[in-house]
Amino acid sequence: MKQKVERDQILGHEDEADGIKEYDNPLPDWWLGLFWITVIWGVAYLVHYHFIAHRSPEAALAQELADAEIRWATPEAAEAEAELVLSAEAVAEGEGIFRTYCVACHGANMMGGIGPNLLDDEWLHGGTSENIVKTITDGVPAMGMVPWGPVLGAEQVNRVAAYVVSKNAEALGRDPSDALRPSEGS
Ligand code: HEC
Repeated sequence: MKQKVERDQILGHEDEADGIKEYDNPLPDWWLGLFWITVIWGVAYLVHYHFIAHRSPEAALAQELADAEIRWATPEAAEAEAELVLSAEAVAEGEGIFRTYCVACHGANMMGGIGPNLLDDEWLHGGTSENIVKTITDGVPAMGMVPWGPVLGAEQVNRVAAYVVSKNAEALGRDPSDALRPSEGS
């Protein structure tokens, strides 16, 4: 039990302290209680932080940087990642894009109209996949071919190019993956 202490005794050194008088009372219980709670909390937090959760500012920073990498990835990086693949899914997706954006000029059968036939072996701008992706991305504005890069984005350009490449190869009885090789002429 707490022993009875005499309260409100003045320590009697006001002459050294510009006349400020000081009592020698114990700290209030609520204050001491809070103090001990913070001490216990501090110890528990330290143990949890270092030995249970293994948290570290370094790991937190690395995580934030990784998140930023995804969030602020440059369009160039996204473009490099969107590769031209000739999978059935890519070609099917490309067909949908072609029907939406391209048939008006190249025809539903791809044999041309306002734009040239895409099923023959005559290419104004080269017939490798690289050439085709470039023509679709940059367009030929002077001749009425829209630059589709900014409209569709690299991934969709690659899908529709995959469709053009595979349909062209089919029409000519070739292996579509031939077009993936870098050009020997056009
Ligand atoms: C407004 C009409 C128009 C639309 C829509 C259009 N094109 Fe074209 N496209 C053209 C014209 C015109 C040319 C020929 C450009 C030239 O003469 O240099 C062309 C050329 C091309 C070529 C190059 C052909 C070659 O011989 O080198 C490809 C590939 C092509 N277009 C694909 C597409 C795709 C894919 C789409 C849809 C995303 C599309 N085009 C939409 C008008 C169009």
